[in-house]
Amino acid sequence: MASATTCLPLVLLLVSTLIAASTTPSSTASAAAQAPQELLLDFRASLQDPTGALSSWSRSTPYCNWPRVACTATTAAANATVSVSLSLQGLGLSGELSAASLCRVPGLVDLSLASNAFNQTVPLELSRCASLVSLNLSAGAFWGPLPEQLAALASLVSLDLSGNSIEGQVPAGLAALGRLEVLDLGGNRLSGVLHPALFGNLTGLRLLDLSGNQFTESELPRELGNLTGLSWLFLQGSGFTGAIPESFLGLEQLQALDLSMNSLAGPVPPGFGLRLQKLMALDLSQNGLSGPFPEEIGKCSMLQRFEVHDNAFTGELPGGLWSLPDLRVIRAQNNRFAGRLPEFPGGQSRLEQVQLDNNSFTGGVPQSIGLVRTLYRFSASLNELNGSLPDNICDSPAMSIINISRNSLSGTIPEFKNCKRLVSLYLAGNGFTGSISASLGDLPVLTYIDLSSNGLTGGIPAELQNLKLALLNVSYNQLTGRVPPSLISELPAVFLQGNPGLCGPGLPNDCDAPMRKRQGLAIAATVASFLTGVVLLAVGAFAACRRLHGSEPSPWKLVLFHPVKITVEELFAGFRDKNIIGRGAFGKVYLTELQDGQNIAVKRLLNSGKLTFRAVKNEMKALAKVRHKNIAKMLGFCYSDDEVGVIYDYLQMGSLQDLICAPKFTMGWKDRARIAMGVAQGLAHLHHDRTPQVLHRDLKASNVLLGDEFEPRITGFGIDRVVGEMAYQTSMASDLNYKCYIAPEQSCAKNPTHLMDVYSFGVILLELVTGKPAEQPASDDDSMDIVRWVRRRINVTDSQILDPSISRTAHQGMQAALELALRCTSVMPDQRPAMDEVVRSLYPLCFSVHPQTLLPTEIALEP
Ligand SMILES: *[C@@H]1O[C@H](CO)[C@@H](O)[C@H](O)[C@H]1NC(C)=O
Ligand SMILES: *[C@@H]1O[C@H](CO)[C@@H](O)[C@H](O)[C@H]1NC(C)=O
Ligand SMILES: *[C@@H]1O[C@H](CO)[C@@H](O)[C@H](O)[C@H]1NC(C)=O
Ligand SMILES: *[C@@H]1O[C@H](CO)[C@@H](O)[C@H](O)[C@H]1NC(C)=O
Ligand SMILES: *[C@@H]1O[C@H](CO)[C@@H](O)[C@H](O)[C@H]1NC(C)=O
Ligand SMILES: *[C@@H]1O[C@H](CO)[C@@H](O)[C@H](O)[C@H]1NC(C)=O
Ligand SMILES: *[C@@H]1O[C@H](CO)[C@@H](O)[C@H](O)[C@H]1NC(C)=O
Ligand SMILES: *[C@@H]1O[C@H](CO)[C@@H](O)[C@H](O)[C@H]1NC(C)=O
Ligand SMILES: *[C@@H]1O[C@H](CO)[C@@H](O)[C@H](O)[C@H]1NC(C)=O
Ligand SMILES: *[C@@H]1O[C@H](CO)[C@@H](O)[C@H](O)[C@H]1NC(C)=O
Repeated sequence: MASATTCLPLVLLLVSTLIAASTTPSSTASAAAQAPQELLLDFRASLQDPTGALSSWSRSTPYCNWPRVACTATTAAANATVSVSLSLQGLGLSGELSAASLCRVPGLVDLSLASNAFNQTVPLELSRCASLVSLNLSAGAFWGPLPEQLAALASLVSLDLSGNSIEGQVPAGLAALGRLEVLDLGGNRLSGVLHPALFGNLTGLRLLDLSGNQFTESELPRELGNLTGLSWLFLQGSGFTGAIPESFLGLEQLQALDLSMNSLAGPVPPGFGLRLQKLMALDLSQNGLSGPFPEEIGKCSMLQRFEVHDNAFTGELPGGLWSLPDLRVIRAQNNRFAGRLPEFPGGQSRLEQVQLDNNSFTGGVPQSIGLVRTLYRFSASLNELNGSLPDNICDSPAMSIINISRNSLSGTIPEFKNCKRLVSLYLAGNGFTGSISASLGDLPVLTYIDLSSNGLTGGIPAELQNLKLALLNVSYNQLTGRVPPSLISELPAVFLQGNPGLCGPGLPNDCDAPMRKRQGLAIAATVASFLTGVVLLAVGAFAACRRLHGSEPSPWKLVLFHPVKITVEELFAGFRDKNIIGRGAFGKVYLTELQDGQNIAVKRLLNSGKLTFRAVKNEMKALAKVRHKNIAKMLGFCYSDDEVGVIYDYLQMGSLQDLICAPKFTMGWKDRARIAMGVAQGLAHLHHDRTPQVLHRDLKASNVLLGDEFEPRITGFGIDRVVGEMAYQTSMASDLNYKCYIAPEQSCAKNPTHLMDVYSFGVILLELVTGKPAEQPASDDDSMDIVRWVRRRINVTDSQILDPSISRTAHQGMQAALELALRCTSVMPDQRPAMDEVVRSLYPLCFSVHPQTLLPTEIALEP
């Protein structure tokens, strides 16, 4: 019985092949009468279904109940019919589509084959699916020409072919699809000239996307202006030339218009905006547009984003723009706009981002700027602004980035008290006078300060030592006095030159000049770092406590570099077996949730090198200064003579290892590429932005934590500095668990190098590309080591290596990542790329996705 049913499809297949082979009308008629379920099974038989998502399609249940099939009864006319929807997106399907049988399924209205791996041309037979209302082939790995035959689908309302590799011209015959409302051809390789007749007829279109193609010879067709029902028009990055047609003035329903990244030139047609009462997002950036911008844009009362940067616009920014009630974003930098900046309509404004850099604006900075409560970025560098800064410039509670460098501003810099979220303050290249306010030291997240090339006098306030600065540039002012010691000894980038009156260790004038000259430097540096220690420890907290298991109390010291609500008692209460989240070469890692919800991980290390408290503290302090979005914060440490506990910020999502080792690891390539990129950027920061260089020396998937949207953070770096080199070497050598992350030369090399970290990164990249954990259970023929596993297969065929759960559309990117990973894991260290090169190589793999730019405004805190 069972064997009979399994044979049935085969028999049917044979029968239908026979039918197809014969051409007599009668046999065609009998095929048409085939039951829908047989047609669907026929269709399935033509597919490769790697996840088995369609394996439960069977004759024993009505096809309307099959997974991915939906039926809707319509009783419109006296005769009841059934509408069938087939949603086969995202299943990794491939194979020669048998659209012929599919199209005979009566009432098939919706067909989605999106996000699959078909690797074939768009099947011509689809043109026989006469009842189709919606056809979605997006990201299905289709290539070849766009078949004109699709014009036969007269009921089609939505056609989505985006994100494939379809090439050649858009056939003019598609003009016959008179009911079309959605036409998405974005992200293909379409080229040639757009036929005017094409758009003259598609008057029902609401969305048209031709972005990311190669219409390098095409001007924007005037006829697009006839599509008066268009709400979304995406034509960015497609090589269009010529001017914006005047006919666009008539697109009264437009909500989003994106013409960015083309080669458009000439003026924006006069009157533009007058009738666009629904426009919310306008992007004309990165073209060669010129002339003044039409005033009428100020009448688009729903506008939220106005992006015209990187063009050659002149004249004033339209005055009405500033008072639009919903406007969030103005990006007009790199043009030749001129004139004064108007006052903002204070309390009513919802502006978040204003970028006006590199224009010719004159006059003062608007006095009302501080009244805009939502403003988080104001940049107007490289203009001709003069006068003094308004006192309230930082009154917006959201303000994060102020850049007014290279203008002609003067007067004193006002007190910055209210902008507790200020990250970047760039006031360089103006005529500011007076002193640097000590209150800057109270802004908790201020990280980048550039006050260079002004006329500032007085000293550098000691309060700046409270900040975790990444950049302090005060060069070329008239500052005087002793430079606060930790600013010299601790910061990655401090620029003091051009201030002859400053003194301190390492500067031409060392403050004690008459007594000792050069030989004083070393001593001064020691004193400086000692002083710094005192300052930092004032921020931290000391405590004495007893060890958990020791019978007699022994002194512990707890030092925190960030505000963490924890006592030593609570810390030790967390050292229970059930809280262990990792066992590394050096000791166990415990997860503790604090009362305020924060999660911390504590790595307990044996102090086998018997390092002194001071030595550990100095190393920890240096590590705590590392600030990067892809590096987990080192919050503090606790110390006893026998043990050191390093306290890290922990992310709820767990580690990359947890994810890869989960029974079903099915993450898409985009997210994996993002993780790879984040890890690479974090590591590159340690290697290339820090002096002295920080080596990780223990990079592995379990030391990559994942945050929101899989943004990774590296943790567990620099442990060697805490346990001491000897102990580090012994522990690493004795740990068999993570051998595969360790570069082969490590056992015989004298000194650790950054190229050893590159090797470990390569192993992580291999894990992401293959979807396999780095250590695999040893079986007879397979080695445990992923590097060897991959190398053994590389000459056979790559497709056996790339994770099969990922759609073929991503294979190009994965293939490139695989090649990069192989270079990183090269046996010869000098063949491995440095991390900054790795980051550059990863960029194109991570951001080659079809741009679907829509409304939400991105918040970028760091420049
Ligand atoms: C359904 O009714 C319409 C007229 O309302 C008719 O043209 C069509 O042939 C009928 N279809 C079937 C399958 O009976
Ligand atoms: C697509 O199929 C061709 C053979 O028809 C093959 O050479 C190519 O590698 C395939 N591409 C992908 C991404 O699988
Ligand atoms: C086509 O399918 C993709 C993937 O399911 C989906 O994101 C997209 O919105 C669909 N297109 C249309 C026009 O519905
Ligand atoms: C325009 O669309 C109508 C249906 O709306 C169709 O009958 C006509 O043939 C189309 N014109 C062209 C030139 O394709
Ligand atoms: C399309 O618009 C142009 C003006 O841009 C007009 O001359 C032409 O008649 C319109 N065509 C149709 C079919 O409405
Ligand atoms: C300023 O903008 C012009 C275009 O208007 C551009 O060519 C130039 O490179 C920009 N300068 C800077 C420093 O970005
Ligand atoms: C700013 O410059 C303009 C000339 O461009 C001048 O008229 C005005 O007085 C200046 N304002 C201040 C406050 O210096
Ligand atoms: C610091 O400021 C000076 C003078 O403006 C400039 O030449 C230098 O490039 C700046 N350094 C950094 C790292 O910004
Ligand atoms: C793979 O092929 C290259 C040359 O094509 C060869 O040098 C290398 O030894 C081969 N590797 C293995 C593991 O067979
Ligand atoms: C501020 O403006 C200057 C000059 O345009 C530019 O070099 C610098 O990168 C800008 N800084 C930020 C944080 O945007």
